[in-house]
Amino acid sequence: MNIIYQHFFRKLLFKLDPETAHDLTCDMLGFAETLPFVRKSISKILKTPKHEISLFGLKFPNCLGLAAGLDKNAMFSGISSSLGFGHIEVGTVTPDPQPGNPKPRLFRYPNQRSLVNRMGFNNFGSKAIVERLSKYNPKGSRMSPVGINIGKAKNTAPDFAIEDYLSAFKNVAPQADYITINISSPNTVGLRLLHRKDFLSPLLKSLQSLNKQLSIKSFQRPLPCLIKISPDEDYNSLETIIQIALENKIDGIIATNTTLKRYPSEPKSFLEKGGLSGEPLALDSLEIIKFITKETNNMLPVIGVGGIHNTESAHKKLDAGASLLQLYTALIYNGPFFPSHLVKSLKTRYLWP
Ligand SMILES: Cc1cc2nc3c(=O)[nH]c(=O)nc-3n(C[C@H](O)[C@H](O)[C@H](O)COP(=O)(O)O)c2cc1C
Repeated sequence: MNIIYQHFFRKLLFKLDPETAHDLTCDMLGFAETLPFVRKSISKILKTPKHEISLFGLKFPNCLGLAAGLDKNAMFSGISSSLGFGHIEVGTVTPDPQPGNPKPRLFRYPNQRSLVNRMGFNNFGSKAIVERLSKYNPKGSRMSPVGINIGKAKNTAPDFAIEDYLSAFKNVAPQADYITINISSPNTVGLRLLHRKDFLSPLLKSLQSLNKQLSIKSFQRPLPCLIKISPDEDYNSLETIIQIALENKIDGIIATNTTLKRYPSEPKSFLEKGGLSGEPLALDSLEIIKFITKETNNMLPVIGVGGIHNTESAHKKLDAGASLLQLYTALIYNGPFFPSHLVKSLKTRYLWP
């Protein structure tokens, strides 16, 4: 089925501009989400094997997740589970809707099997995401956990970012299995400043305090909270981030987001501004995963993301100590049946730790 996608559907989709192709696909998946029999039939046909992993107090049917940014508005999280993803991260969502950066803002580089984007958190807002999830894939009845990735609004200065994160957290908490605190997208001015100790410490402290209050109110345990980091931080900065994460009882780190780096082997057109994802990112993200797992002696779970495109690149991240994986760009190049195919191809020694 992957071959049919690559030789037929991908050719058609790649004739359209990248964002139109993306929107069209999302609309179709979003419609399919509303039809329970479609979701069931896809699961039955694909028969993705179950290799359950328990982490953060959650049960993941397999180690491969959908990375944030593809399903920004939680339109098709149920369909994504049926396609074989063992967790789905939706968002990034901001407290209120925002349009994102001017178009064009998404670019394909098929020879490098990569993308450059400067979307800028275009999303329907935190309330809409919760409404959609509670209607079509409500918490408690899901095949795979759904994480909600939160961020600050475009016009919020870093000094006031905490308010945005608190507001988004409060709104999405009822439908989140876990929360990702995104401090690493390169397309929102000032966001990456939040990697700095003077911003990160108070941010995580305030969010964990809210998390505790909400859990007491709802008689539930606090939500697992992860932070998603940039691949462009140096090792000193990573050490500080790890220390602050541990001090604030963060449950895990998602490594990594897209990079602002450009690599020598790339064509001039790569100079398009924005975050680079896909195969060229694989090595840098791998090095960061290795660094975190070594520094923390595997005590802080890592979700490995960045350039996973085949069995070998997935195995490498698991070998480096990642507990779970995520991908985005490979789905654009390999199609919707790729997640199930990849899960089937992973060696069982990686699936039952
Ligand atoms: C078009 C696009 C939009 C993205 N939007 C987000 C986002 O809103 N939030 C986020 O945390 N990551 C976002 N990402 C980053 C991905 O989640 C992922 O970390 C990155 O693409 C590396 O993985 P990959 O090489 O498998 O694509 C986006 C990536 C792409 C390509």
